[in-house]
Amino acid sequence: MSAIPYDTLRPMLRDQRILLVGGAGFIGHNLALELARMGATVQIVDNLMVNSLIENAFAGEQDTVQRTAYRNFLNERFALLRAEGVSLRNADARLLVDLSRVFEEFQPTKVVHLAAIASAVDANAEPGLCFDLQLITLRNTLELVRPKVDQINQVMFLSSSTVYGDFKGDSVDETTFPRPEGIYANAKFMGERLVRTYRRQYGLGVTVVRPSALYGERCISRRVSQMFIENALTGKPLLLEGGGDGRLDFTYIKDLVQGQVRALALHGGPEQSNTFNLTYGDARTIADIAAIVRDIVPEAILEERPRAVEKPIRGTLSTERAKRILGFEPEYDIESGYRRYCAWYVDAWRRAEREANLT
Ligand SMILES: NC(=O)c1ccc[n+]([C@@H]2O[C@H](COP(=O)([O-])OP(=O)(O)OC[C@H]3O[C@@H](n4cnc5c(N)ncnc54)[C@H](O)[C@@H]3O)[C@@H](O)[C@H]2O)c1
Repeated sequence: MSAIPYDTLRPMLRDQRILLVGGAGFIGHNLALELARMGATVQIVDNLMVNSLIENAFAGEQDTVQRTAYRNFLNERFALLRAEGVSLRNADARLLVDLSRVFEEFQPTKVVHLAAIASAVDANAEPGLCFDLQLITLRNTLELVRPKVDQINQVMFLSSSTVYGDFKGDSVDETTFPRPEGIYANAKFMGERLVRTYRRQYGLGVTVVRPSALYGERCISRRVSQMFIENALTGKPLLLEGGGDGRLDFTYIKDLVQGQVRALALHGGPEQSNTFNLTYGDARTIADIAAIVRDIVPEAILEERPRAVEKPIRGTLSTERAKRILGFEPEYDIESGYRRYCAWYVDAWRRAEREANLT
């Protein structure tokens, strides 16, 4: 039982107006829903350029069932947001003038920055775009907060566990020196440094969040946790590089969101800065999640492959700081969270199959 019961956070969020930049995506819409349920007023600004309905409608390689399933996930996001009273502005945060209009109209008290190409592989393939989506949008956000430090008490920046680079030893904590590799991780590290610099120079209140290997309902980012269950359902093999011994700190979206809500509610305002690992806090192997998939879909095909030479070495992120300061209590190991997500995916897929066959 946490020393800071979750429900006691409500009064701290009730008067907050929280703007989520890049908030229509996987993390953003889940965070928006929870913040609205906790009593905050929430506005999303997103240009819907990543994993959007339009991208889904015109993506070349998708089959009809996959297209239908993903369309359902996206429509469900919007329906849930509408039902919770979250508003969404379709605008590009790279354009200062457009973002500035959103700030003027909404008058936020807190801003969460999420815009990015959220996949390291895709970002590394398009370095210029990665730079623009992560850093130009962040620059605009910080520049709009800077003259309003009295009114906007916190900026939360979504960084990544990839800033640590190859993990050495059993786990990393927030005092581990970052050694980011590649464009995605380096842009995240630059973002962290920018945010902290704005705290030092201009007195912003800031929080840096480092999540890892998220999975959960309505995610269409096609990471291994999603691809495994989808491949199992479509007769494609689950590829286990090096026998699947690579370890990741798989984290259910509900755990991340709980930590973010705590970090937003308990923040001390201007001048305060903190960095938190927000993960389940126990790295598990790729083979472990494949075993759960096979348990749920017994006909799943597991195929071993040679280890990729340049695969990053990952592992556990210690969450002791978040537990101590925020009362963070991650609840879902993969046996509970990933199993629950897979069961949801099977239902959603079967529904999409029925709908696709009707059209
Ligand atoms: N999902 C993970 O496992 C994970 C792990 C570590 C860090 N992160 C970070 O968390 C953040 C959110 O990740 P996610 O999984 O929700 O990704 P996502 O792709 O689902 O969401 C990102 C959103 O940003 C929006 N966006 C991009 N450029 C924009 C722009 N110029 N203006 C307005 N909106 C824009 C996209 O349209 C999208 O809706 C990202 O910064 C990501 O790097 C994610």
